[in-house]
Amino acid sequence: MSKIKKIAVLTSGGDAPGMNAATRAVVRGAIYNNLEVMGIVKGYYGMIHDEFIPMESSSVSNILQNGGTMLKSARSEEFRTSEGRRQAYENMKKHGIDGLVVIGGDGTFNGARIFSQEFDIPIIGVPGTIDNDLFGTDSTIGYDTALNTVVEAVDKIRDTATAHSRLFFIEVMGRDAGFLALRSGVASGAEAVLVPEVDTDFTKLKSFLENQYKKEKTSSIVLVAEGEKMGSTIDIADRVSQEHPEYDVRVTILGHLQRGGSPTVYDRVLASQLGVAAVDALLDDQKSIMVGLVNREVVHVPFNQALKNKKALNSGLLRLMDVLSI
Ligand code: F6P
Repeated sequence: MSKIKKIAVLTSGGDAPGMNAATRAVVRGAIYNNLEVMGIVKGYYGMIHDEFIPMESSSVSNILQNGGTMLKSARSEEFRTSEGRRQAYENMKKHGIDGLVVIGGDGTFNGARIFSQEFDIPIIGVPGTIDNDLFGTDSTIGYDTALNTVVEAVDKIRDTATAHSRLFFIEVMGRDAGFLALRSGVASGAEAVLVPEVDTDFTKLKSFLENQYKKEKTSSIVLVAEGEKMGSTIDIADRVSQEHPEYDVRVTILGHLQRGGSPTVYDRVLASQLGVAAVDALLDDQKSIMVGLVNREVVHVPFNQALKNKKALNSGLLRLMDVLSI
């Protein structure tokens, strides 16, 4: 018999579609197992400032299909300090919480890892970020929805790009990773993708574009990951425009619209699986791990590994970009 009787759940960092579905799964998974459950509002900030709310099964009715997060999210500077974490611990004790599920990305898991080294409260992480940049799971919650949002937007931009024979640089999110750019690039038929994982120099980009131009393509789309090392999307586009006045260059930054919207079926199911798996892991006396899905099976990955290892871009998709953009 597990000694866990009462757990809490929070969402933290950049929100991602499917976080609500994951919250629902944690709450219902807990109640199913006769545990009490509380929600913490605004992530670690709410843990420090005592924003705990009791959750019933009905508290999570009709949220599965919604983007954003009903528990709200925040990036907490205070949780980076030992005083902040001590205060958070005091509140956890006050509410009798003996297990925690955190839904978020690498910043969230790093906070959880430090907290669980300092205090004896088991924590399980559920990967939720549109960036898909967590090692140990094939996909993070929100990634599939964001991909669909990006592709829908790029299809629309393609219409106007073709009408005016223009070259568009479209920036997609991904502070440190090119997963969104690469996969949506393949799915939208982009002519090129620029991602932080692959060094591209300006000369190479130019000669690629010159080749495309010679083929008299009616439009060209280059998807740029936010974290691209060559420079900002605007700087890259400016430079191309200056050196190639014959191109009619435009820039679109998709920005935060990529984080919103109703989650796809894939994200809803993934979030449901991982939310319940997180409660099962707590009941199984696991701690300091992320639950992930690899080849459709639930896996447990220690926070240290999820954070230390870098998830690799799919080299097959990189090759596809080269083959298909001729
Ligand atoms: O981590 C998810 C993410 O969407 C990144 O792709 C992006 O760089 C960042 O969050 C933006 O964060 P904020 O909403 O705090 O500006």
